[in-house]
Amino acid sequence: MAEKFMEWEDRFSVGIPLIDKQHQRLIEIINNLYDACRQNGAVYTGFVTALHETVDYVGYHFGTEEKIMRRVNYPGYAFHKKEHETFVKEVLKQMHDYENEKAYAPHALVRYLRDWVLSHVALTDLKLGSYLLDMKKTGALEQVSEKSMDSKS
Ligand SMILES: [Fe+2]
Repeated sequence: MAEKFMEWEDRFSVGIPLIDKQHQRLIEIINNLYDACRQNGAVYTGFVTALHETVDYVGYHFGTEEKIMRRVNYPGYAFHKKEHETFVKEVLKQMHDYENEKAYAPHALVRYLRDWVLSHVALTDLKLGSYLLDMKKTGALEQVSEKSMDSKS
């Protein structure tokens, strides 16, 4: 079996199952995107499709985290949301350049996604996770059910 571009590790866990599950799915999606890079041609349709899927899932996942932060009046909300927004803006710009044939560096784009996700999870999401775990200890998190935090609901 081919080696995976990204692999989930226990140290990525922020302690909140819903967020961890979504991070695991995000890693899977980035792996698919990496696989889609390995085609020939200038603008690869497979890569573009996988890239759109990635952007959609990133939006969904950020939506979940932001909803959680609002529910618990998280003090780091503005900073965290800003990081999400800056990232989405950069990815959309790179996607646009790629689709408009201004840039042909799918590998660089996928590496950028991976590196950003890993450092964001390790720093910013982990901080949110420890805040939520502290709330859990005091019982304050019980009012925020996992289902109600999912951005689909
Ligand atoms: Fe986040």
